[in-house]
Amino acid sequence: MLALQLLVIFATFCLFGSVKCEKKICDFADSKCLTETSAPLFDEFVVGMPGVPPSDPLHLDSFEINQPSIKYTITDANLSRFKNCAVKTVRINAKDMKYDYHIGCPHLTLQSGYEIKGKIGDKSVEGKGTSITDFYDYHLLFDGDFSSRNGENGTVYLHLVNHNLQIQIKGNVKYDYKNLFDGDQEKSDAFLKFVNENWPIMDKTINQPVINAFMNIYIDNVNAYLNIVPVQRLFSYEA
Ligand SMILES: *[C@@H]1O[C@H](CO)[C@@H](O)[C@H](O)[C@H]1NC(C)=O
Ligand SMILES: *[C@@H]1O[C@H](CO)[C@@H](O)[C@H](O)[C@H]1NC(C)=O
Repeated sequence: MLALQLLVIFATFCLFGSVKCEKKICDFADSKCLTETSAPLFDEFVVGMPGVPPSDPLHLDSFEINQPSIKYTITDANLSRFKNCAVKTVRINAKDMKYDYHIGCPHLTLQSGYEIKGKIGDKSVEGKGTSITDFYDYHLLFDGDFSSRNGENGTVYLHLVNHNLQIQIKGNVKYDYKNLFDGDQEKSDAFLKFVNENWPIMDKTINQPVINAFMNIYIDNVNAYLNIVPVQRLFSYEA
């Protein structure tokens, strides 16, 4: 169905572009073309526009992890530095209506209030205060189903119906928690040393659910953007 719509796009887009057909739309099977044409639009997407909330920072009022081994709550949380991320891959399977969308972020920072009680690995921890977490070379790989709709004048708009998120950390994660163990500096330093040396343990237990919650907001923003910007603008290039 999408393939058929795209044939129509080719025809109409050229007509009202100008006398000469200057802009072309990527073949949807050409992932390199889809990626290179849409990547530069990331900047305007992140900043936001009427109808599209900004994505830097992303904000969560609160989020809770409630597991037998750990209770963790963050409040007033901001995930920032999205402006520096870049679109690495866009892949569309027009027949099965599936997409892959991969962004890479050199540095993300999470600032929030926190409350923690339980175990990370074999270390007990408790505390309440503020925290900063830095993520280096952090990659967010989304995939899922999309749908499409026709707009005016032969335009076509995409919508991400659902998303799976896979996180790849090519760098590392650094933690700073203020006021752990009721301000006991020695215990606090020992715990922070442990989690910074063994950051994947803490990342799996705590950060990945938190990042997932942020990415639900992010994908809502992507959909707000896709609702305004048609395929003709996302994936076109000067021929
Ligand atoms: C998150 O951002 C909001 C709005 O800019 C700000 O009021 C709040 O203090 C920030 N939270 C933290 C923990 O920095
Ligand atoms: C569709 O094309 C007509 C005629 O060129 C134009 O007046 C109208 O504004 C266009 N609609 C949109 C949504 O671009």
